[in-house]
This record gives sequence, C-alpha cells and structure tokens, in this order.
Amino acid sequence: MGFTMRAVVLCGGEGTRLRPFTFTQAKHLLPVAGRPVVEHALAAVRATGIRDVGIVVSPSVEGQFRERLGDGSRLGLSVTYIVQPEPKGLAHAVLCAEGYVGDDPFLVYLGDNLLQGGIAGVVDLFRSQNPAAVVTLRRVDDPRRFGVAVIEGGHLVRLVEKPPNPPSDLAIVGAYAFTPLLFQAAREVKPSFRGELELTDCLQWLVDRGHPVLPYEVRGWWQDVGRPTDLLVANRLLLAQIEPRVEGEVDGSSTLDGPVVIERGARIVASRVVGPVVIGEEARIERSTVGPNAAVGPRAVVRDAEVADSILMDGACVEQGARIAGVVLGRGARVHLPMGRPFSAFLGDESTLEVKEEG
Ligand code: DAU
Repeated sequence: MGFTMRAVVLCGGEGTRLRPFTFTQAKHLLPVAGRPVVEHALAAVRATGIRDVGIVVSPSVEGQFRERLGDGSRLGLSVTYIVQPEPKGLAHAVLCAEGYVGDDPFLVYLGDNLLQGGIAGVVDLFRSQNPAAVVTLRRVDDPRRFGVAVIEGGHLVRLVEKPPNPPSDLAIVGAYAFTPLLFQAAREVKPSFRGELELTDCLQWLVDRGHPVLPYEVRGWWQDVGRPTDLLVANRLLLAQIEPRVEGEVDGSSTLDGPVVIERGARIVASRVVGPVVIGEEARIERSTVGPNAAVGPRAVVRDAEVADSILMDGACVEQGARIAGVVLGRGARVHLPMGRPFSAFLGDESTLEVKEEG
C-alpha cells in the first residue's frame, strides 16, 4: 500500500445551534445512543484500519476532549489533539493539522457526521485509485444546506457550498480523503460568503487544475448533528444498531423486550424496558417504563415515570409520574411532574422542570 494514512477529525467550531447543551459541553461530546457523538465517528475511523487520529478542537473545549478521550487507547486509537485557535472554516481546521499529517495522504472526517455504512469505502477507493481526493456524496431531497457536487464521466467537475439553486441533488457528506496537495489549495482559496475557508472550494481548486477528484456515493442513512432534534434522530438511528448486553442488575419483577444494553452498576427495579434502549452505568430505573428509543445516561434516575424516544444525560432525573417522549435532558437536569400527557422538551444541564403537588 506504500503509505500510512492518518485521520483528521474536525471537532472545532462553535456549536451555537445546539444551545443550551453547548453552553456547558462541547457539541461533539454530547451523548447519542450511550456515547458521545465523536466516539461514534472515531469508531468509524477505526473500522477503516487507520489508528492515528488528530482531533481538531476549539481552545475552550480541549480539556473536555482530553478528559473524555484521553490518548484514545480505550478506543483502540492513538489520538493527538490539535487546537484551532478560531473557527475559520473546515479548510482552515485542516490546515491546522498540516504538521500532524506530514507528507502522506490523509482522511478528513467531520466529527458531527454519522453514516450508516461507515467510511471505510472512502479509504478503499482512495487506496485503489490514487486520485488527488475522494469526496463522499449522498442524494438528498434538499441539498441547499450542504455542499453540492456535479459528476461527469465518473469525476467531480463542480462543487459549490450551500447553493441557493443547487446544480444537482448530490450533497457532500463530511468524509474525504486527500493528498497533501490539499494544503496548497487551502492556502490559496479565499474565504467564502460565510467568511470561512471551505473544503468545497479547495476541491474545486483541485478540479480546476486538472487533478482527479473522485466521488464515493453512499446510500444508507446519513445524519449530521447540528440541532437538538438531530440528537434525537441520531439517537434512534444508532440505537437501531446496538448489540444487546446486560451487565447491570435486573430484578425479578422487571421485563426486558427487544435489544437492550444495560451497563455495569445500573439497576432495574419493577420496571419494563422496551428496546432499543441503552441504560448507562449506575443508572436507576424504578417502577417505570423506559423505551423504545431511549438512552439513559450514567447515574441518571427514572422513578415512577415513562420515558420514550429521549436522551437523558449523566445524572438527569425523571420522576413522580412524568411521561416524556422526544426529550433531551442535560446533565443533572430534573423533571418532576405528576402524570399527564406525554411532553417533549430540551432542558440544559442542571435545569429543573417541576409541578408542585397541592397541599
Ligand atoms: O455535514 C456536511 C456538510 O459539512 C457539507 O455538506 C458541507 O460542504 C461542509 O461545508 C460542512 O457544512 P456545515 O455548515 O454543516 O459545517 P459546520 O460549520 O457545521 O462544521 C462541520 C464540522 O467541522 C463540525 O464538526 C465542526 C467542525 N469545524 C467547523 C468549522 C467552521 C471545525 O473543526 N472548524 C471550523 O472552523
């Protein structure tokens, strides 16, 4: 194969569309189906065979990443952190990784993009054809909020970022393979309409100079996590793929149906768990129904309640008869409501939603 590929996973940027959760946590560290978004992305990188990963982060959240992912060995990877001082665009983020990448081809993966079929196909195509770049594409109904590509004769001929009148329905998915020529492109392109250095413009730069850029089209689901509702969509998609495993305690009066993961130290008491569901370490489920499509975080508590289609982050708590569906609860957030109609909400870390009982 002749060269060793490294991966650059982009986790910089502001994550403003995911407030209130990103006031206190990095967007890519928010949990989906029991683990941070970026860990799903890193698992996809590992499945390509690549072991060395540079994660580009904003200065304000570097510590959070180090704390959660460490040197990457828990995930079977060797992780290096690369700080992008300001979010000046995807191509700028990749430029920050130039020293890390060196002279070999490399994979770039946006840390908030999740793909059903993973990204091994991008690397395989790159290795077999040796082009200047491979870009992942997927047909979408509304391409206007993506980069959009036009293919002719099996090659990419045109790439435009977020066009109001898209020239095709092929959206650019956040997985690319490049030769180091990309760095020259990134130094030469000008900031876009949104004031950022775009990878899309770098790809056009390569095409304009006659370098072959190949499409890799995917057909399975593709979800990027930009807004709170995306967390719930990604949660459902990823929960559909879990491997059932019970390491916590389930008492004799509880039932488990469908694919369920119950982590070490979790306790299920007099409850019904309807998969797909993930229950985190040391969580407590008492006299409740959980699922389907629920991810209950470590140390979270569900007591006398019903929780479906929701994400409860670390230490969140739902009790007193509450029925929730389509809810994201931040770390330590509490819902304390008497039985009523199911409701949905997005509550940031440490918030409380409470109805006092009369008397
Ligand atoms: O999701 C696919 C789309 O991603 C592509 O179709 C577009 O062509 C591509 O430009 C990109 O568009 P977005 O507007 O969705 O990119 P966003 O600003 O959300 O950033 C994507 C990831 O890159 C996210 O994980 C944060 C990271 N990032 C972003 C910026 C602007 C950085 O690491 N540094 C940055 O400066």
